[in-house]
Amino acid sequence: MENQLVLVLDFGGQYKELIARRVRECKVLSQIKPGNLPLEEIRALSPIGIILTGGPDSVYRDGAPRCNPALFDLGIPILGICYGIQLMAFSTGGTVSPCSVSEYGRTAVTVNTDSPIFSGLTAQQIGLMSHTDQISVLPEGFVSIAQTENCPNAAIWNPEKRLFGTQFHPEVENTPNGTQMIRNFLYQVCGARGDYDMRDVEQRLLAQIRAQVGKEHVILGLSGGVDSSVCAALLAKAIPGQLHAIFVDHGLMRKNEGDEVEAAFANRDLDFIRVNAEDRFLTKLAGVTEPERKRKIIGEEFIRVFEDQAKRLKEQYGRIRFLAQGTIYPDVIESGANNSANIKSHHNVGGLPKNMEFTDLVEPLRGLFKDEVRALGRQLKLPKAFIERQPFPGPGLAVRVIGELTRERLDVLREADAIFREEVRRYRGRKPDQYFAVLTDTKSVGVVGDFRAYSNVVALRAIRTTDFMTGVYVPFSHAFLSRVATRIVNEVKIGGGVSRVVYDITGKPPATIEWE
Ligand code: XMP
Repeated sequence: MENQLVLVLDFGGQYKELIARRVRECKVLSQIKPGNLPLEEIRALSPIGIILTGGPDSVYRDGAPRCNPALFDLGIPILGICYGIQLMAFSTGGTVSPCSVSEYGRTAVTVNTDSPIFSGLTAQQIGLMSHTDQISVLPEGFVSIAQTENCPNAAIWNPEKRLFGTQFHPEVENTPNGTQMIRNFLYQVCGARGDYDMRDVEQRLLAQIRAQVGKEHVILGLSGGVDSSVCAALLAKAIPGQLHAIFVDHGLMRKNEGDEVEAAFANRDLDFIRVNAEDRFLTKLAGVTEPERKRKIIGEEFIRVFEDQAKRLKEQYGRIRFLAQGTIYPDVIESGANNSANIKSHHNVGGLPKNMEFTDLVEPLRGLFKDEVRALGRQLKLPKAFIERQPFPGPGLAVRVIGELTRERLDVLREADAIFREEVRRYRGRKPDQYFAVLTDTKSVGVVGDFRAYSNVVALRAIRTTDFMTGVYVPFSHAFLSRVATRIVNEVKIGGGVSRVVYDITGKPPATIEWE
């Protein structure tokens, strides 16, 4: 049976994915579509409810994103959030005008608990506000069901048409009971059954993969990251013996990483092809110091290695037309194309060969958010450390060894990085979202025993971020940092050792997360 569906219509707000995820957390399938989706398409999808996102524009401005006003007469329950509430009011005969006092941040809201979306809550709530416009005249048929000190229409309701709006953002954590408000909308207004669950999703994806692929063979580029790993585990379960997963070990992995990836797939029914290409990559990279050049060489070499393997498989199995990849829902939304069949750039490692003979993409995760991919990975019994893995750049340690790449310099970094990671694992506070060591191209003087040493300088980086577009450094205690520094200086023996450890306290912006 098909899942009930809630459409999230996008008007440019930054929280559209968060809204869609909240709906799914309430066990209802959600999909994000453009705000101006034609009514026929909306009807064809027969959603049980619609949520209008926020957006940066002013609804009364010429050229502001709008929807067909008949949307509000379809008989489908609608919840408009922020820009969405303003659009709802504007489109149904109300007036939206600039606020005399703009509201930003957590704001006290008094709500009417007799209205379905606030049912079960107390009258005093906190809502995250961020607006410079508001509804000054309510449209006919609407009543105000929430107020703040400066905003008399902080939430509105048209009981007859089952239309709701909130000026605040129920989808964010800064609205502490926001998820309950969304759940109320889904269950008390839209008639949700709660039929979306990851066990069913897995069963459905297995069936879809089998239907698409039949008895044919499939090739997958496995990076060891969460998405491609979950994709591989799912395919191995769906089509045992038909998946060839190519894992290119370019010698730029962290300590033990290649072996960990191999071990995670050891008992699965797939052809795991580990290509040990360290020599190939390091030969090509010899003497190269310029970061973008490094990335380019790695990207190109990756393609060559992949092509060689695909050719070998062709000789053995005949032409393989299916290429699998771990595209996930945010990749689909980002590219703005819902049905495009693009070969995803393989973690920026230059992409996969354009001239290969794949004609069909297998992308079983393209409807899932990252947290759902992780949940699926847990169901498929991938190791925990794998599923919670921090992002790792496709070019690997090449962008963390500043200057020339040699096996020895990579080993110095691998050892220092492993110590830092081990200490962070033991660290009791909140873990950084990304953390690693960098081998700088500076040498510095140290005293080892009675001797002066002139050796490597390692930098540590630890970042807290949600989107990796901006971030702040993690304020580790000095005791913690000095333990890590002492261990690195004492324990790293190769490559002349390390004489000095520094901690990078620059945010992003102005710095980037990686050093290169
Ligand atoms: P920056 O350094 O731009 O990094 O602040 C943001 C995020 O992207 C990752 N990163 C990369 N990932 N190929 C990748 O697949 C790359 O060339 C690359 N460079 C940076 C970085 O680790 C961080 O998570």
